[in-house]
Amino acid sequence: MSSIQNTLGPITSVIGAQWGDEGKGKIVDILASEYDIIARACGGANAGHTIVVEGKKHVFHLMPSGCLHADKQIVLGAGLVIHLPTLLKEIATLEENGISIIDRLHISHAAHIVFDYHKEVDAALEEARANPIGTTKRGIGPAYMDKAARSGIRMESLSADVSDELRSRVPHIKTMYGVDMDADTEIQNLKDAQSKIGSCIKDTVAYLANARKSGKSILIEGAQAVLLDIDHGTYPFVTSSSTTLAGALQGLGIPPMCVKSCIGVAKAYCTRVGEGEFDSAASGEAEERLRERGGEYGSTTGRPRRTGWLNIDQLNIANATNGFTAWNVTKLDVLDVEEVIPVMINGKLEELPGWKENTAGITNFDDLPENAQKYILRIEKETGVPVTFIGTGPGREEMITRT
Ligand code: IMP
Repeated sequence: MSSIQNTLGPITSVIGAQWGDEGKGKIVDILASEYDIIARACGGANAGHTIVVEGKKHVFHLMPSGCLHADKQIVLGAGLVIHLPTLLKEIATLEENGISIIDRLHISHAAHIVFDYHKEVDAALEEARANPIGTTKRGIGPAYMDKAARSGIRMESLSADVSDELRSRVPHIKTMYGVDMDADTEIQNLKDAQSKIGSCIKDTVAYLANARKSGKSILIEGAQAVLLDIDHGTYPFVTSSSTTLAGALQGLGIPPMCVKSCIGVAKAYCTRVGEGEFDSAASGEAEERLRERGGEYGSTTGRPRRTGWLNIDQLNIANATNGFTAWNVTKLDVLDVEEVIPVMINGKLEELPGWKENTAGITNFDDLPENAQKYILRIEKETGVPVTFIGTGPGREEMITRT
């Protein structure tokens, strides 16, 4: 067992603690080298992870970030909603980069399929809303609507013929949402997917249970983030899945008692894409400065993210539903130019002194400027959770690990 596994245990999890885009991909990518299986549990192509490896950017929406490790088994659990053309495109991207995936990809037969019509219904619903949610228009809500209504079509149906079922939906979708569903294209997409990934579809609960029994280690990669959780987030401005650790375990079908650790990932500041409250939003020049320095544009939609300051109250709420054993504070270096750094604590924006020094690429905590160290220690004090990992740049190696 590796030293990281000694600390985190054979099953660990990485969960976003804010409104998504915390930079979970990097810690996952680092931990992935120590774990046998990387598992994604919920959500769909609304996620977008950008990972930089040796200077090259990779963006994935469905594949977990850990998929770049060519020797790891990849699981897409039952809680996912999968848009097949997107998945096939990601597989093609990996293969074009010389990374084979089919022989190590395990897709739950119980995951639901996102059809193109779900995407159009998503857009139509947004259009009709008095207060739009600002969804990614990837069909996530409508696919989960079908799932909850028990009319969803699951991955197991790839090997069956659901053409008649799909065709029968056309008039209903038109009447309900004014959307013209192209059943022929949907059916063709199913056939294409069956020929490419049919062999990957299986009972992933049994696969993971056997893997655990034989001593394999599992890294659970959360998608979206706690404040977007359908139950515990800022409803209705949330996604349609359960984004907490509990949701991930449910989505994968892993018994909760197996998990020894959960890393909460939070930016050193805060961003939000889409609508809904944002009470630590930055104003004036700071908003744009954070956006530019942090590269805060959605990797799925390209939308500029709203930017603001760290909300520690929010981190405490996220911790209450997840029980984090460690924080990974990301993108600390984005704050390097700030004179003062507002932080929301107990409902008030408190101004902490900035450090006005370069922290980019620092890998030892003791090498951080004193005020940067104090900033991190304040997060620890207010949340009671150790900040074990601190990101100081986009590269895989730009990370402080405190043990
Ligand atoms: P949906 O998941 O596309 O329905 O979008 C619902 C809300 O969740 C919107 O505010 C989206 O911007 C937000 N959202 C969904 N996925 C992500 C993500 O991966 N990062 C950040 N925001 C997300």
